[in-house]
Amino acid sequence: MNKREVKIIGIAGSLRQHSYNKSALLAAKGLLPEGVGLKIVDISNVPFFNEDVESVEVPKEVIDFKNKLLEADAFIIATPEYNYSIPGVLKNALDWASRGEKPPLSGKPLAIMSASPGMLGGSRVQYHLRQVAVALNMITINSPEVFITNAHEKFDLNGTIIDKDTEKRIEKLINELVDYVLLIQKK
Ligand code: FNR
Repeated sequence: MNKREVKIIGIAGSLRQHSYNKSALLAAKGLLPEGVGLKIVDISNVPFFNEDVESVEVPKEVIDFKNKLLEADAFIIATPEYNYSIPGVLKNALDWASRGEKPPLSGKPLAIMSASPGMLGGSRVQYHLRQVAVALNMITINSPEVFITNAHEKFDLNGTIIDKDTEKRIEKLINELVDYVLLIQKK
């Protein structure tokens, strides 16, 4: 029997063009085991969540976004920490994704990374995101924790990862995520 490709969707919690978190996702893309694909889904055009809008007609951008998420076996979110918590754009996208009859995140594994030029690497946002993941019914990978501290030293000016330790941790996180997907697919 041919094994189906494991499909991971990556979401960056920063819209910034030269985002370190986007760079971390791109690094992950280069570290995938065989038989695994990683597609990065852009959230920049997801409108603000509004229950009034939702009750009349879910916007096309949201439908497209959620359809892309439905394809995934697992997710990886790389996000900055804004004021010790989740950037509004990311929380907004997750709020839309939590709605409807077929919430596309529910029951799926989630790996988390955060990058910051600071010394904590966005550690606080990860715990807020893990809390939100409980509401989304996602299964978070606990270890390794990938906090990319002093991010400006870990990527070059083109956004390419240049730190071997960080690269190894990202690779380990991806492997743990894929192992978990394969484990639950066997059931
Ligand atoms: C930040 N930054 C930041 N960093 C951090 O480690 N903890 C924090 O609480 C905050 N708070 C914060 C709030 C706001 C509004 C901004 C714009 C920034 C700094 C942040 O880590 C830095 O800008 C990163 O480079 C953002 O990630 P990207 O865009 O490089 O992925």
